[in-house]
Amino acid sequence: MALVALGVCGGIGAYKSVEVARGLQKQGHDVIAVMTRAARKFVGTVTFEAITRHRVVTSQFEAGANSDIEHISLASSIDLLLVAPATANVIGKFANGIADDFLSSLYLATKAPVLMAPAMNTHMLEHDAVRRNLDVLAARGVRFVEPGAGYLACGWIGKGRLAEPGDIVSAVEQLLSPSGPLKGKRVVVTAGPTREALDPVRFIGNRSSGKMGYALAEAARRHGADVVLVAGPTERRPPSGVEVVHVSTATEMRDAVVARAAEADVVIMAAAVADYAPAEASAQKIHKDRDEMILKLVRTPDILAELGRARAGSGRPLLVGFAAETSDVVAQARKKLSAKAVDMIVANDVSRADAGFEVDNNEVTIVTQQGEETLPLQEKTAIASHVIERIATLLKSRITVSR
Ligand code: PMT
Repeated sequence: MALVALGVCGGIGAYKSVEVARGLQKQGHDVIAVMTRAARKFVGTVTFEAITRHRVVTSQFEAGANSDIEHISLASSIDLLLVAPATANVIGKFANGIADDFLSSLYLATKAPVLMAPAMNTHMLEHDAVRRNLDVLAARGVRFVEPGAGYLACGWIGKGRLAEPGDIVSAVEQLLSPSGPLKGKRVVVTAGPTREALDPVRFIGNRSSGKMGYALAEAARRHGADVVLVAGPTERRPPSGVEVVHVSTATEMRDAVVARAAEADVVIMAAAVADYAPAEASAQKIHKDRDEMILKLVRTPDILAELGRARAGSGRPLLVGFAAETSDVVAQARKKLSAKAVDMIVANDVSRADAGFEVDNNEVTIVTQQGEETLPLQEKTAIASHVIERIATLLKSRITVSR
């Protein structure tokens, strides 16, 4: 079941969005209606309130509605923002970052996927300004349900009518449970750093932001997989439709991954796991009463190597590791491929300022038994999509071979 924010704008099709809300509920989803001022000229809030059994959101300045900065709190809890009907006005606002009401602010604040069902007069739909705004939104990943053709409320015949409620609900279903090469596959992804406590206020950590791992989790989900993201401490917002398990230390990450690995088809270790942890964490804050301090560190569990040993002979789950190196990147990655007995190592040079830790881009070399492939510098989201596609291909070849 997903939480869908249904944005309703001021168009004659607004009455059809009542049916859209009902259709989504029939699929088991929870719907919160967000109505613009113009939408309320066409349909009353009571209708949506009765159907959705939630207060209809109309304004961010409504008395009593803002105890939790509502557009921010709703933005982070929804799985999808659906706008139906989407007028030329709201399309223009979304495309240009104008946030002058609740719905347009929600669009800017949410990381959830966005689906819009445009509806307007044919000539408005064909106008350069609207086409350009639609192109801008499409390039940003917004999806659309094409308007239908026929008699329009304005008396014209042509394209611009709001798509049928059933088609809008189907488009939502497809977005929320994407089909793709990993449909039906369970994928565990690790992301972020681990923290090994020295005392109650200090820890040994590293520079991982979680960007690479979160992008992989999102890409795996987009390719149809059921995804569990085991995440070390990061500020990142989880991708929608992904189960997130928060951990802190290498041992906690090990326990969370091992518990899920037996059921998984693929495990991707993008986390920067600490290799060593303090032999003993001090229960009290360590005070600076000595000129020198020697820390005794002990090895943490090598999660990936343990998974490699545990699956010996079975080939399941498919194991993908990352190699964070500063020299001889590919040679080191190949060593890790065999030492940890895994199927793929994605090698990156973490000494670079424009790739590796923290930044939005990466350049990687995918190392497998079959060979090497370098993906040039690009956004981590794009790298993640490529890596997931390689994994899907590898998985498929495995299945074919074992039949
Ligand atoms: O999070 P970002 O800021 O986006 O940065 C991304 C990244 C640089 C962290 C990522 O691309 C990356 O390289 N992740 C792996 C970091 C790492 O720990 O590399 P390694 O070469 O030390 O380890 C090799 C593999 O063994 C990794 O898959 C690692 O997750 C795994 N490992 C390591 C140690 C350990 N105790 N257990 C493990 O399973």
